[in-house]
Amino acid sequence: MDKLLIRGGKPLKGQIPVSGAKNAALPLQAACLLTDEKLTLTNLPLLADITTMNRLLAQHGVEVHINGRDAFGSSGRSVELDANEIFNTTAPYDLVRKMRASVLVLGPLLARFGQAKVSLPGGCAIGTRPVDLHIKGLQAMGAQIDIEGGYILARAPQGGLVGAEFVFPQVSVGATENLMMAATLAKGETVLVNAAREPEIGDLARCLIAMGAEIEGIGSDRLVIKGKDRLHGATYAVLPDRIEAGTFAMAAAITGGELELLGAKLDDLKAVAKTLAAANVKVSETANGLLVSATAGELVGVDVMTEPFPGFPTDLQAQMMALMCVAKGASMITETIFENRFMHVPELARMGANITVHGSSALVRGVPRLTGAPVMATDLRASVSLVLAGLAAQGETVVNRIYHLDRGYERIEHKLAACGADMERVKEAD
Ligand code: UD1
Repeated sequence: MDKLLIRGGKPLKGQIPVSGAKNAALPLQAACLLTDEKLTLTNLPLLADITTMNRLLAQHGVEVHINGRDAFGSSGRSVELDANEIFNTTAPYDLVRKMRASVLVLGPLLARFGQAKVSLPGGCAIGTRPVDLHIKGLQAMGAQIDIEGGYILARAPQGGLVGAEFVFPQVSVGATENLMMAATLAKGETVLVNAAREPEIGDLARCLIAMGAEIEGIGSDRLVIKGKDRLHGATYAVLPDRIEAGTFAMAAAITGGELELLGAKLDDLKAVAKTLAAANVKVSETANGLLVSATAGELVGVDVMTEPFPGFPTDLQAQMMALMCVAKGASMITETIFENRFMHVPELARMGANITVHGSSALVRGVPRLTGAPVMATDLRASVSLVLAGLAAQGETVVNRIYHLDRGYERIEHKLAACGADMERVKEAD
């Protein structure tokens, strides 16, 4: 299992290109199931989760070509997905348990083929994460759904799914995506109320429109989708990853450096930029992205609460906490989206952080410096928070189990090392 070795204390300086967004790419990949024509996605990040989704699609019968070559193991930035011949509408446990976003094939399969069998994703490190909203929404569209043997068995009524109004009792990114995709092929109009407004939802909607779908309300919490008999192929570029950009913004801040994040969009990071500004981190727009800079020793503690977009994203909570560990004063960080998303706390504490958790809030009292230590994390964003802490810490940090990082950060050690970070990947046999 690979490790990352980081010798901290170097201010980062330079430019980092932001990759395509993982969380936008995954639903876009699943959207290929909605048409028998080819969907080409460009600006695709090279990540383990993207490969897992390609594998899942391939076992349904989708032909997957990355840059015209076989998808698995080869490198590339565009993928062609051809779902002309689907021979299997089952998403097996083995793939779904690896990646929760696999459940995104449910809506498209059900809408186009009238049936789908998708393994329940089960729990994961950051919480129980149920899929009841995905199921209830599809039921509202006429689907009959049973849970059997750990699988969701879904059947559309004779003649296909029917448009419906569905009010989300709680904002869900994945359920909004699943229902929006299903609605594009349903009979009549679907209205999704209290829908998620994350930029990745807008990206999916724009791709679906390019495939012939009719969707109104992009960027709002009310999406209106008029169903079509069929969708067609398209070519679509994945939007830049706001979470990767936000992570690197915090890397600049925690090392007292200056980074230009190429391709980053302020509109997708407003709450983060506002919070960083309050912490004494400068964020400004440039012709090519965002410039982020901070002076070592001048960070100040700010309170942060995670919320659905446009609020502060839960996917940047762990990184923000790492930053607050070395800020002056105290910071209260409250997690409202996932119930168990503080697994980085004991690891940060091993590096000298002063953090007390009370239920869904963590009180971080800033310390003058962190010290390097061997650490490990149990999820993607927690892992990267330890990388950030390692970049700022005195001495050597070894981040273990970095397969989590590889799920969501493309060539992170190369991108950071190019800006002065002293870090390397240590390959180890499993
Ligand atoms: C997506 C992101 C993830 C991010 C999260 C919240 C992808 C691939 N992943 O995950 O990185 O952290 O949004 O911004 O895009 N819930 C239910 N029932 C459901 C669905 C969700 O109770 O049927 C709950 C969840 O347990 C959680 C909350 O709703 O507490 C939000 O989850 P959701 O927005 O659905 O997250 P994901 O789509 O899984």
